[in-house]
Amino acid sequence: MSFDLVMFGGTGDLAWRKLMPALFQAFRHGTLPAGGRIIGVGRDDMSHEQYRDLIRKRFDKVELAKRPSAEEFARFAELLEYVRMDLSKAESYQALANTLQQRNADTVVMYLATAPGLFTTICEQLAAHGMNSPHIRLVLEKPLGHDLESNRAINLTVRRFFQENQVFRIDHYLGKPSVQNLFALRFGNALFEPLWRREHIANIQISIAEDLGVESRGAFYETTGALRDMVQNHALQLLCAIAMEPPINAHADAIRDEKLKVLRSLKAWTPVSLQQDVVRGQYSAGTSGGLPVPGYLQEAGVDPNSATETFVALRTEIANWRWAGVPFYIRTGKRLAGRDARIVINFRPTPHAIFDTGNTASNQLVINLQPKDGLELHLLAQGQHTRAAKGASAQTLSPVHLDLDFDKRFGSERVGAYERLLLDVIDGRLNLFVRSDEQEEAWRWVEPILDHWASDPQGPRHYAAGTWGPSASSAMIARDGFCWAEES
Ligand code: BG6
Repeated sequence: MSFDLVMFGGTGDLAWRKLMPALFQAFRHGTLPAGGRIIGVGRDDMSHEQYRDLIRKRFDKVELAKRPSAEEFARFAELLEYVRMDLSKAESYQALANTLQQRNADTVVMYLATAPGLFTTICEQLAAHGMNSPHIRLVLEKPLGHDLESNRAINLTVRRFFQENQVFRIDHYLGKPSVQNLFALRFGNALFEPLWRREHIANIQISIAEDLGVESRGAFYETTGALRDMVQNHALQLLCAIAMEPPINAHADAIRDEKLKVLRSLKAWTPVSLQQDVVRGQYSAGTSGGLPVPGYLQEAGVDPNSATETFVALRTEIANWRWAGVPFYIRTGKRLAGRDARIVINFRPTPHAIFDTGNTASNQLVINLQPKDGLELHLLAQGQHTRAAKGASAQTLSPVHLDLDFDKRFGSERVGAYERLLLDVIDGRLNLFVRSDEQEEAWRWVEPILDHWASDPQGPRHYAAGTWGPSASSAMIARDGFCWAEES
């Protein structure tokens, strides 16, 4: 099968940080279909050779294990071409159409790795030049809009020119092996299903912590913030994977239908819950990896009076028979105490205690997403006998855990998120991509939070870089009698 992959934004950050390295890995692993061509699109005047040279130099910044040798790059570079385009000009699109026609590949992927403000123009122009026929696939990177209305506007334009099954909306969390395993855990094994409900689960925590700050993306982050950057997409997709009903089969729409139902069942916000159940934070100066780091307000491209949040913690519920009353806590932030993404399922304690369990009385399933990738099942076992005060023997239970490390088990067979997703686009598999109605529903749910913040004079709470966020986040969960996993 021949394919052309056109990368709009072919000289940009995403292209060289994620897309090119992922395509190279697929090439190295022999999974990139033969007969492919990767066409970088950019504004600058460059020959194919100069573009290859630029990409080769950028690979020097990629981690060592993922860097090509000179010989490997020379073979990979044979796939690379460059087309200069002014994305606002019709002639540019005609030139692209001509380039594509010369080869007439079986599949053409249009990867829009540009500023989202350009999506509408690009879609219109592609269609105007006949580049929207069924063998053409459109890949849209997040952020897709900044609220419900702008998201709808993009989806509306896209729908005018492309069928839904041609559109691949990326949420790279869905491509992570650890997230794939979450689906496998739930729908490939019968063990947990009977327990996966309100009768047995006390609460669920989804935590995506990053130790990095905003890096060079201050200007982008200023208009985005953690809620739009991480919660509206990645965290809610994780929540869907945890809470959805088993789909009737593994086809894309069956899975997306179930995820959509979860999003629709999220408890609606009220003025009280917006006050009590959402915490926004912003990092101030502190440390990272033992070194002093500046606060958010001192970062390049950031307004010194900015109220943009770099941290969000929230509590919600899912109003359906399986989950009614079970709190779901979501937390994400930059410059936290470490890079650690995990989902913690806290089971209810035994209904009647016959052992002395101290304060470690319940079971826990921990789904480690990164940097560790695996499962831990926390149980209680009888590790020691102690002498009770009156001389009688008392049985004390101690926490132990079963630890399954997927990296150790599957090691080199594992495929990175972008590699997996790019191969899925080329092969036309939509399972791991987000449908427009899911995205709109997620925006509908986060929008009241954005509106509330816009009119809330309190602003974000500050937390020192290198900590777990503002204390209000711990207070929020403590109100229910629980604590974040690292506090237990
Ligand atoms: C991106 C966000 O979608 O995800 C970034 O825009 C964030 O701000 C990144 O750092 C986190 O991805 P990962 O794969 O490193 O957890």
